Amino acid sequence: MQIGIDFTDRHVVVFGGTTGINFGIADAFARQGARVTVASRKRENVDAAVAALGAHGGQVCGVVADVRDFDAVGAAFATAVEKFGPIDVLISGAAGNFLCEAKDMSSNGFKVVVDIDLVGTFHVLRQAHAHLRKPGASVINITAPQSFVPMRYQAHASAAKAGVDQLTRVLALEWGVDGIRLNAISPGPIDGTEGFRKLMAPTPQDREFARDQVPLQRFGTLDDVANLALFLASPYGAYISGALIPCDGGGAFESVKPALEAAGRAQGSSNTR
Ligand code: COA
Ligand code: NAP
Repeated sequence: MQIGIDFTDRHVVVFGGTTGINFGIADAFARQGARVTVASRKRENVDAAVAALGAHGGQVCGVVADVRDFDAVGAAFATAVEKFGPIDVLISGAAGNFLCEAKDMSSNGFKVVVDIDLVGTFHVLRQAHAHLRKPGASVINITAPQSFVPMRYQAHASAAKAGVDQLTRVLALEWGVDGIRLNAISPGPIDGTEGFRKLMAPTPQDREFARDQVPLQRFGTLDDVANLALFLASPYGAYISGALIPCDGGGAFESVKPALEAAGRAQGSSNTR
């Protein structure tokens, strides 16, 4: 179920927008009439997303770019802006993750997640700045609960997403004078996504247990997150900036425990509680 807020002819760019939660957000804006640009690493994901978004009848642009490559991100924005003009809404949500205890994590394993989640977010925001509508643009970063709740096997993602949170707050200070708002959405367990598959519920019994740990007694949907993004980007969110807003059914952190215990067993660790 999606709220209806008109975004006709607004230019919405979703970095990391070709699958999962971010694609759900891109899809929601496309359904509300926006001209949508999606970008990610893999050509097949970009092509599939463009085809699916185009089915709503609006204008869509797809660009292949790795957020770790500053120049490639800049080129992606140049392509998007040439096609659809200044950016009204920017979503930055590219991320990578895996479960691994810090003592077993290689330097490159830590670095790759920080490079995608944190440095990649900086690249996206930094390259977008010149193209954001001033005043009026809304920027939404996609963070995660482990940015502020410590979580085993998530040293890399926790550190990276904590950085994303602070980047959101600092740039809200710096860019507010230009009429640009920055906020972050922190999704809880969103069913059917890659992040959910990696971090959650390895067996049907675990899944049931995990669902019961969510205060609202269900996993989230793509529309749950997309509705918050639509609201934040709309005039109804006009005085909200520098905010980190959970969309997690009331604090769903306990629900990752079965996955963490399974990961600990797989890695031969007793450090699961
Ligand atoms: N456990 C421990 N280390 C791991 C690992 C795992 N499950 N998966 C990857 N690594 C390590 C690799 O060993 C490598 O380190 P090394 O060079 O010291 O061996 C490092 O991480 C980089 O791995 P690589 O596969 O080369 O990186 P990549 O750039 O191809 O992929 C990932 C990045 C690993 C984050 C990959 O999972 C990815 O692309 N994810 C995107 C989708 C995703 O995770 N979505 C969920 C979002 S929450
Ligand atoms: P996902 O489907 O894997 O989405 C990740 C997206 O980022 C994909 O479009 C991917 O496409 C792109 N991407 C990955 N690495 C990239 C790179 N280096 N450069 C450019 N694009 C890249 O995962 P998801 O679970 O929906 O997660 C989406 C966001 O929500 C992430 O920020 C995640 O941290 C956050 N989140 C998810 C959950 C959850 O329950 N799923 C919970 C909390 C937070 P390519 O592979 O084509 O690059």
